[in-house]
Amino acid sequence: MTPDVTLPIEGGFVRPLREADAHPGYVNGLNDPVVNRFLDAVKATPQTLESVRAFVAADASSPSSVLWGVFAAGREPHVGTVRLHGIEHRHGTAHIGVCLFDRGVWGQGLGGRAIAAVTRWAINSLGLRWVEAGAYEGNTASRRAFESAGYHWVFDIPGKYLFEGQPTTVKVYAARP
Ligand SMILES: CC(C)(COP(=O)(O)OP(=O)(O)OC[C@H]1O[C@@H](n2cnc3c(N)ncnc32)[C@H](O)[C@@H]1OP(=O)(O)O)[C@@H](O)C(=O)NCCC(=O)NCCS
Repeated sequence: MTPDVTLPIEGGFVRPLREADAHPGYVNGLNDPVVNRFLDAVKATPQTLESVRAFVAADASSPSSVLWGVFAAGREPHVGTVRLHGIEHRHGTAHIGVCLFDRGVWGQGLGGRAIAAVTRWAINSLGLRWVEAGAYEGNTASRRAFESAGYHWVFDIPGKYLFEGQPTTVKVYAARP
């Protein structure tokens, strides 16, 4: 989906991305091992402008996804993404993921505020009742960002997923109205 909406957040804004928003900084950030350390699918294959364009286009046309760009005030182009996906109207649920691929904006609370804005939109505009995020146990920044956006821990998945070759725990968080 590509809803025509811009959500202001402190220090920037978020809006749905279109294929033309793919840019070299986005691609290079996704290939940065510090950025993609906890991003399983992203680092599975090297990202290119073509692969990123295809990803953005697929979400833009999917009825069950909205890929939001995170824009920092006074900076173009976007510095990260918040992705709502697996939107399931029958249950009123969705999944959410976040990536600030520009490390220059880390540590300012932008990630948490972007998650909070997209979550509010999902609850208020799509009528969802459960927005779910999973984070590797060791990804403290991600866990804290979701908690600061109002997410609560709901359950753990111990040992199912591998992190750097070792079974690890994925912590699952949810936001509800
Ligand atoms: C996770 C991410 C979105 C966080 O965004 P951010 O805007 O930098 O986060 P914030 O500035 O709100 O920081 C969140 C909290 O984590 C803390 N934190 C940040 N980096 C940390 C680190 N390496 N270790 C421990 N705590 C850390 C911050 O101090 C802050 O704590 P607070 O809530 O008590 O103030 C960003 O780091 C990112 O995109 N990482 C790469 C992709 C990724 O891992 N995505 C999540 C996959 S589940």
